[in-house]
Amino acid sequence: MILIKLGGSVITNKRRALSPRRKAIDDIVKNLKKIDEPLTIVHGGGSYGHYWSVRYDMHTKERRYDPRGVSIVKNSMIELNKIILDSMVKNGLFPYCLPPTDFMTGNRTIAKKVKEIQKIAKSGMIPVTYGDALWYGQNKTYILSGDKIMTHLAKTLRPKLTIFALDEDGLYSDLKSRRLIEELKGERPPISDGNRMDVTGGMARKVEEATKIAKTGLRVFFVNGNKPERIVKAVKKKTFQGTLFKVN
Ligand code: IPE
Repeated sequence: MILIKLGGSVITNKRRALSPRRKAIDDIVKNLKKIDEPLTIVHGGGSYGHYWSVRYDMHTKERRYDPRGVSIVKNSMIELNKIILDSMVKNGLFPYCLPPTDFMTGNRTIAKKVKEIQKIAKSGMIPVTYGDALWYGQNKTYILSGDKIMTHLAKTLRPKLTIFALDEDGLYSDLKSRRLIEELKGERPPISDGNRMDVTGGMARKVEEATKIAKTGLRVFFVNGNKPERIVKAVKKKTFQGTLFKVN
């Protein structure tokens, strides 16, 4: 099993509201088709979910948010999700759409449902889920990021490789020189991040989730989603052009 997160900044243009990057999506999908192993896809919100979450002041914390905001965030994620699903079918892949409500209750996963994802992936279909606004209970909702979903799913699915496709080559040790960190062994790199359009914490959150996943003994790989052939190379040839979180 390969678990892959398509970051919102790759599949949408984060600088412009509600703008999908259709070519980038198609390119990723075409490359994923070259992988003959069970796959599970998670995608982010980018200029869809994040855009509306910011507009309605919604965050990852469970609160009584504006119900109109909750509806609009959820609708926008369906719209983005549909673009990805359509691209997959067009390119000969068979997505099995799973809104996170299918396997989450409150802020916990439904173990039986996550195990089902494993089976769906092995059947030749590709489970596809995404970050979303979710019901928590007591009239509260929260934003569940795709990155958090990665950690939830990785625990049960135990993928051979957990990939985060980003709009960058990987993690940089220094943003000015853009020196790429090629390998990390357990340590948590210092990350500063100031992306205001992002309610779920941008790169810092990704690193946090990736470190959690790596600590459970799984390989995590940050790769440039605009160079999707690197995803194929990592899976097929085990050549990692990006940042690899190595198992200790
Ligand atoms: C965000 O998911 C979901 C919503 C804001 C509804 P992510 O936090 O995983 O999205 P990206 O990848 O950073 O855009």
